[in-house]
Amino acid sequence: MKKVTVPELCDMKRRGEKIVMVTAYDSATANIIDEAGVDIVLVGDSLGNVIQGLPNTLPVTMDEMIYHTKIVSKGIEHAHLCGDMPFMSYQASKEDAIRNAGRFIKEGGAESIKLETNENYLDTIYAIQKAGIPVMGHIGLCPQSIHITGGYKIQGREIQEAKRLLELAKSTEEAGAFSIVLESIPKELAKKITESINIPTIGIGAGPFCDGQVLVINDLVGLSPDPIPRFVKRYVNLREIMTKAVRDFVDEVREGVFPDVDHSYN
Ligand code: KIV
Repeated sequence: MKKVTVPELCDMKRRGEKIVMVTAYDSATANIIDEAGVDIVLVGDSLGNVIQGLPNTLPVTMDEMIYHTKIVSKGIEHAHLCGDMPFMSYQASKEDAIRNAGRFIKEGGAESIKLETNENYLDTIYAIQKAGIPVMGHIGLCPQSIHITGGYKIQGREIQEAKRLLELAKSTEEAGAFSIVLESIPKELAKKITESINIPTIGIGAGPFCDGQVLVINDLVGLSPDPIPRFVKRYVNLREIMTKAVRDFVDEVREGVFPDVDHSYN
């Protein structure tokens, strides 16, 4: 099956076709997502929250990200695979950033990397893409900056901040990023940014006017516990379905109903 490439993703914006991105952390789930026709699979550092049970993404390491990217790559034939640079994998120096981005490609099997972007990392984006690695920017709510912003807050509501984010999106494109995630910003600001740049925007909590949308897989299928953010839509409640299945198993084992003759060897 043909792989989704970076030029194709940029063409999708030109053609007005929506880009769909979903996170994955293991091969089996990635395979389901890929077969469902998703364009980009992101191995997000949301790994920390949804898989590792952590309160935030800050402790996630490069080695953990590489391990999960590697196993996700085994489940994918069609979708583009993007690896998320974890906290402190690119902040200290451009050299660190290039080397760690390279690990996603060489060891993880990814085809691009994403990094949470502010004005300090434009040179880093330029340097990584010059090294031959496509970069997805990420602006608005950046979970790796929660200790600066004071938590998971909607960004860009104030005029000055909205202007800053618009300029940052333009500079991120100029630095060579091939797309930008817009997280938790007002929908009119996301529209303005989307119309002002030539590379695709991929929204999460940024309304309907972005070129594409991303959701965390555990949120999308209802595996994440309540409360969930307002922008999440659960397409199924797997938590309920799995709880019932496991409870039924518990009951049947305790009552001696399972295993029956149909599930036993002679
Ligand atoms: O880590 C992640 O899953 C992300 C997406 C929510 C965009 O950054």
